[in-house]
Amino acid sequence: MKKIAIINGPNLNLLGTREPEIYGKETLADIRKRCEKKARELSVKLDFRQSNHEGELIDWIQEAGREASGLIINPAGFGHSSVAMMDALLAIPIPAVEVHLSNIFRREEFRHHTYTSRAVRGIISGFGGLGYVMALEAVAGK
Ligand code: DQA
Repeated sequence: MKKIAIINGPNLNLLGTREPEIYGKETLADIRKRCEKKARELSVKLDFRQSNHEGELIDWIQEAGREASGLIINPAGFGHSSVAMMDALLAIPIPAVEVHLSNIFRREEFRHHTYTSRAVRGIISGFGGLGYVMALEAVAGK
């Protein structure tokens, strides 16, 4: 069975209580459940993780490159700042999709650019937890 890695960056562990007017009331556990349901429909296995640490996220991107057949990543704030995460994504041979819960292009100007988006097949931004499910459709079919 194909394995898809889903990697979540900093502060996404706080979903549900973190700025709910922007990120909604869904928790990361709720999003994980939605993804697991979709993964069952698509007959793929999921590896769903979250970390607040850039180096750990980079280790996980590299691991996904060795062990998974697709990657979904919400780099959160590191997307806007981390050349090293972009480099890790450029180094892996599997298709990756970047997801943001909020529409980053409607928000502050510093959120309009992500380094990581240069290294992925595409971005889904602004659909809340549904964006992860959409991304699963996109990578599972590749
Ligand atoms: C985010 C958008 C980022 O700008 C922000 O730093 C986050 C969450 C999103 O999912 O909308 O932490 O990636």
